[in-house]
Amino acid sequence: MMYGILFIVIGLACLLLIQNIQKQRQNQQQYIQEDPSPLTAHQIRLIQESWQRVVPIKDQAAKLFYARLFELDPSVKKLFRGKLDYQGDKLMATLNVVVNSLDNLGGVEAMLQAMGKRHIIYSVEAAHFETVGAALLWVLEQGLGDYFTEEVKEAWVIAYGLIADTMKQAAYDS
Ligand code: HEM
Repeated sequence: MMYGILFIVIGLACLLLIQNIQKQRQNQQQYIQEDPSPLTAHQIRLIQESWQRVVPIKDQAAKLFYARLFELDPSVKKLFRGKLDYQGDKLMATLNVVVNSLDNLGGVEAMLQAMGKRHIIYSVEAAHFETVGAALLWVLEQGLGDYFTEEVKEAWVIAYGLIADTMKQAAYDS
């Protein structure tokens, strides 16, 4: 008798567990269908492969980036109070993390939102993101040469837009 009841309880628990797993799978499926990444798998590969070509020259790339940024908008120079070498390392490290997370941007969303909010403290304005994007694309073009095709450029434009929008929304849309 005791074993019979135990058997039924274990059976019910297993059923509930299976139902729960099925529900979670359905939810995930729904999320994937409702919110597809604006980047295709091919574009993600193009960005990650091109970034691998920048990584070995990241120090020069960071230097070029700030030089170009200050050329495009000299007024932002005063916002950078710390050492630019150090700042360049942090910028490159962050881009590295984001580029390697492009197939699961949800995993770095909170990090980008927090970073966006910190940028208010640095007196960064939403409009500055356009200039930073232009400087970044210019550096990629210089560093990648012929490898920076229209297709690669388009993928980077979308990726930068996603990063900048996540940071800006967290910082300025509340
Ligand atoms: C994709 C966009 C951007 C990324 C990935 C990025 C990344 C970073 C990182 C990693 C830091 C280090 C401090 C921290 O994490 O809070 C930082 C600081 C900073 N960023 Fe950005 N940033 C972006 C956009 C911008 C824009 C649009 C501006 C405007 C000019 C800007 C100006 C600054 C300034 C002034 C600091 C502080 C530097 C200092 O203390 O000397 N950033 N950024």
